[in-house]
Amino acid sequence: MPSILEASGICKSFGALKAVHDLTFAVNAGEILGMIGPNGAGKTTAVNLISGTTRPDAGEVRFAGERVTGMAAHRLVQRGLVRTFQSTTVYGERTVWQNIYRGTFTQSYTGFWSTVLGGAGHRRQRERTIERVETLLRDLRLTDVRDTRARHLPYGRQKALGIAVALASAPKLILLDEPAAGLSAEEADRVADMIKRIQEAGVSVIVIDHNMRFIAQLCHRVVVLHHGTALCIGTPREVTSNPLVIEAYLGADHEPA
Ligand SMILES: Nc1ncnc2c1ncn2[C@@H]1O[C@H](COP(=O)(O)OP(=O)(O)OP(=O)(O)O)[C@@H](O)[C@H]1O
Ligand SMILES: [Mg+2]
Repeated sequence: MPSILEASGICKSFGALKAVHDLTFAVNAGEILGMIGPNGAGKTTAVNLISGTTRPDAGEVRFAGERVTGMAAHRLVQRGLVRTFQSTTVYGERTVWQNIYRGTFTQSYTGFWSTVLGGAGHRRQRERTIERVETLLRDLRLTDVRDTRARHLPYGRQKALGIAVALASAPKLILLDEPAAGLSAEEADRVADMIKRIQEAGVSVIVIDHNMRFIAQLCHRVVVLHHGTALCIGTPREVTSNPLVIEAYLGADHEPA
């Protein structure tokens, strides 16, 4: 299976701390790849290195066949690589609709310029954009709160909005940093369903979570991070039965998923 993203030997230190060290993994096109590991294992740093938020000290990142190491986040978004943050990043004073609409503008500079300059394709472009916003409202079950200011949404729906904004840019790969953190079991199930639908729509996914059950039910493969590097990569069954993983992360009494 061709890979959409390859990280090879990526490293990032903060002073003496090796937050990510010699991390190598790939995301197959069309798969949901889970990333799991204890607090401080380097999961968020890894996502930062891949998504252009932080430049790696060493190593290489390739996306859709192109070397993108150290490329700025907004240029990666134009190429189809987008991420959400561990805490939500929506504009609280803007409505749900406005937040998602804004997300579509990161899609490409051509979109931006055709809007600014007007011209022949402009009206059709705007119609298509509005259609896209409406689809995302429906898909993420946000239609009933379309005119609500984001800061008035309950936490779970703010997270759904964060994902809608990221999807508005029409990505090929979306990186979700703990989309289910702080949610009830029921809300977390809804997030899992949503991620499955995103994947079925043809978008590859990297999803971070602490909960092995959540990751195992959702992901085709899992990367287990430990001290900034990949302890094990494999199917949920492979990683949960790996002795290294059991010892380092799951505890000796864990049963395979
Ligand atoms: N900007 C920074 N400056 C200094 N140290 C940092 C910085 N960002 C992360 N770290 C450190 O790097 C290590 C990895 O952090 P990171 O946030 O990537 O872990 P994580 O796996 O995402 O953890 P969590 O599960 O708590 O979100 C931690 O020890 C953290 O304190
Ligand atoms: Mg983190």
